[in-house]
Amino acid sequence: MRIMRPISSILALLFPFVYAGLFQAAPRPAALTGIVSSDAQAPMEGVLVNAKRLSGTITVSVVSDENGRYNFPAARLTPGTYQLTVRAVGFVAANAPITVNVGVGTVKTDIRLNKTSDLAPQLSDVEWLMSIPGTYEQKQNLFINCAFCHTLAPVMNSRYDAAAWMKTLVRMRDWIPASFIDKPIRSPFPATALPGDEEFATYLSSINLSSAPTHPYELKMLPRPHGAETRVIVTEYDLPRPDAEPHDAVMDSQSMVWYSDYAEPIVGRLNPRTGEVREFRNPLVKGATTAAFCNWNWIARATPGLGGQAPDLTASQNSTRKPGSSSIGAPLSNRTNLVPLRKRILSSL
Ligand code: HEC
Repeated sequence: MRIMRPISSILALLFPFVYAGLFQAAPRPAALTGIVSSDAQAPMEGVLVNAKRLSGTITVSVVSDENGRYNFPAARLTPGTYQLTVRAVGFVAANAPITVNVGVGTVKTDIRLNKTSDLAPQLSDVEWLMSIPGTYEQKQNLFINCAFCHTLAPVMNSRYDAAAWMKTLVRMRDWIPASFIDKPIRSPFPATALPGDEEFATYLSSINLSSAPTHPYELKMLPRPHGAETRVIVTEYDLPRPDAEPHDAVMDSQSMVWYSDYAEPIVGRLNPRTGEVREFRNPLVKGATTAAFCNWNWIARATPGLGGQAPDLTASQNSTRKPGSSSIGAPLSNRTNLVPLRKRILSSL
């Protein structure tokens, strides 16, 4: 399960936003509110507004409604100084950075956006896949093989021609799946060229910047959230290690969030009420190679004494999980899978 890779050192939890109107109740008091607008579209629906306290670790995001209004409920922003950022593909904030002082009562800050002249850095992987030419198989090949350790952005912004791609494709196979672009972790096994590389290298050189300073096709954008899709609050927590790779987060009966790390033998515990994080080195793999924690086969093959036998610790978790589902908000039966591991860690503290 690789639910967290694109935001590797951040744990994101999604809380449903209960629409006050459904219950005929008065709107909940807002700590911070305002209208998002631009010359091109005023007001603007579906703009993500993110608030992060200066030198804090928690980012709260809300989405502007059909009137362009964004609204941070008072329960979600305690008094303090916050920096606001926005995400609306095709636009940038007119006067970034936006800093606001949230106190007692409601603070009003309108946000003005300008159209961006440089769309490429804002595109998500899905938008790149929508934009690039190519057959279904070519795009599938690209997505499965190249959007795993990093996003498609470095691929699209590269200048390699087909010959240079031949070498780069082999270099990518040198890294194990727990790598990301700032944290290459070398595979213990030598990488080689594979059948099909030449064709793929030619395709890659037709969609990157090898032949022109800008992408030789129209860049397409997904529509912004609309209607009920805008009624959501997302809370993200920075983890203490910038290279943390949170993986398989689960919530226990005290609403503490536990996660394992994809690359290191570490289990972490996040208190979502305060953002406090404690991390524990996992004693289970002491003496094993730590840099391949994600892959028991590699640990077993690289660790004398295990004799190539990989303990199947993940099977019980995976068997109860529906394909493609994330473990955040997973049914209780999944959450209990972490208990034995947690007990062993706590008993070793
Ligand atoms: C197993 C992990 C992994 C996979 C899968 C992967 N990469 Fe990478 N990629 C890395 C790492 C680590 C770096 C940074 C180190 C480096 O440049 O080799 C990187 C960097 C890059 C860069 C930027 C550096 C440069 O040379 O310009 C490009 C471009 C790139 N990868 C293309 C690809 C393509 C194309 C694929 C699919 C064939 C791919 N990657 C698949 C791990 C991976």
